[in-house]
Amino acid sequence: MNITFLLNGETVELADVNPTATLLDWLREDRGLTGTKEGCNEGDCGACTVMVTDEDGHKALNSCILFLPQLHGKAVRTVEGARGPSGEAHPVQQAMVDLHGSQCGFCTPGFVMSMVASHANGATDHDTQLAGNLCRCTGYAPIIRAAKTAEAEPTPKWINDDRSFSCSQIPRREAAGQGAEPPFLPNSADELASLFAEHPSATLVAGATDVGLWVTKQLRDLDPVIFLNRCDDLKEIKITDTEARFGAMVDMNRMGEALADLHPSYAEMIRRYASVQVRHAATVGGNIANGSPIGDNPPALIALDAKLHLRKGDARRSIQLEEFFIDYGKQDRAPGEFVEAVSFPRQPDRLKAYKLSKRFDQDISAVCGCFNVTVSDGTVTQARIAFGGMAGIPKRATHVEAALIGKPWTRETVAAALPAFAEDYSPLTDMRASATYRLETAKAMLERYFLEDQGEITNVLEVSA
Ligand SMILES: Cc1cc2nc3c(=O)[nH]c(=O)nc-3n(C[C@H](O)[C@H](O)[C@H](O)COP(=O)(O)OP(=O)(O)OC[C@H]3O[C@@H](n4cnc5c(N)ncnc54)[C@H](O)[C@@H]3O)c2cc1C
Ligand code: FES
Ligand code: FES
Repeated sequence: MNITFLLNGETVELADVNPTATLLDWLREDRGLTGTKEGCNEGDCGACTVMVTDEDGHKALNSCILFLPQLHGKAVRTVEGARGPSGEAHPVQQAMVDLHGSQCGFCTPGFVMSMVASHANGATDHDTQLAGNLCRCTGYAPIIRAAKTAEAEPTPKWINDDRSFSCSQIPRREAAGQGAEPPFLPNSADELASLFAEHPSATLVAGATDVGLWVTKQLRDLDPVIFLNRCDDLKEIKITDTEARFGAMVDMNRMGEALADLHPSYAEMIRRYASVQVRHAATVGGNIANGSPIGDNPPALIALDAKLHLRKGDARRSIQLEEFFIDYGKQDRAPGEFVEAVSFPRQPDRLKAYKLSKRFDQDISAVCGCFNVTVSDGTVTQARIAFGGMAGIPKRATHVEAALIGKPWTRETVAAALPAFAEDYSPLTDMRASATYRLETAKAMLERYFLEDQGEITNVLEVSA
């Protein structure tokens, strides 16, 4: 596979690229660019953050779980390229120096690159922007102060210049994944469909936030590989009067933005999904297709009555999302079949999505409870309740739903429905939570939903007089 990208302002052409070589390893071992650090090698610490720019804009990404072919046609900037061509510091670098934002310095390149990207995007929610970067010694206050101070400075020219390098300058077919031999880099869902039908044992790579770890932690050899990141038609978001539809390759940051008006509680839950870096990579298709019982999207989407759209070759089918999850590790997906999109009907916003994790940011859910209860004239007329972390699959609470439907929407009805959770779920005890805690938490979430619906403040982050 031959690929071309821009690295710190210079064009790089690579031939015969190992499809699962990570950008981090290549930067450090092949290019000697050791400013980018390896901490966890699994997307958790942000020490390896780089900025990647494409037609969608500037993104902070973790280079430890980014495969080289995912960069074809893009511009990459590492900490070595944050400063200008004459050696002048980027405004965030200067502010880090002036405000003492670094002690041992191990985390600093990662913080700087997250700050370079958020500065270029004009983002000022620094707690969120930097939630994916860990620092053991400086403390976050001086770093946040540095980010705030740099806000006033314009984006340097050399950073803006990255935007003019785009895929359009590289003939799409030049990516060598188009030949008869893998790895493959299809340019559309149609190309993907025929490639995957021909090579049904191939590993699909979407954002690589799961698959990356198979390589860096499990040292798995993946062959053949099909990369989905150039299938622009799988990145479409279509919101009509009747339906909201998300292509499989919609990343979590775009998903959160699109949901902010439709279902703000779901969007807020996505803000706590991993970190900015992971959300720029992770896709909704990957989050569903991996079949994880603790993925955050499936319970919210099931509560919204979502349909999953699958495709194999030219054949398409749509199923209720909850039917996709058959058992732990088993999904309703045939060899050569892939997720094309997920959609849900437009509806009045009654959804609340509650994510419980040991750490507020950048942590996988222990329990994720999503509630969508419709009340007419004081009576529950519809209820869709789904949980992650309570079973081997994302699963609806059908007994709890039945205990609510047709009853008055009162505290007594909610109390009477709570025992039904034990009929719906027999959760596991694992490192994230005990079975008892999970069951009690699920009940507390229903009570919380009811109380919030009565106008009571239940969010510990909200303070009221
Ligand atoms: C640091 C970190 C934090 C995380 N935090 C969270 C979190 O808070 N909440 C959460 O839910 N998850 C979290 N995850 C897990 C991960 O981000 C998600 O599961 C993610 O959505 C996977 O999507 P992806 O695009 O990266 O998939 P990939 O890793 O590319 O693929 C995952 C699986 O899905 C398959 N696949 C991908 N796309 C398709 C498709 N269109 N059709 C068929 N199969 C497909 C792949 O072959 C693979 O088997 C975290 C991961 C990391 C590394
Ligand atoms: S090394 Fe920790 S996120 Fe990449
Ligand atoms: S400065 Fe030492 S880890 Fe952040």
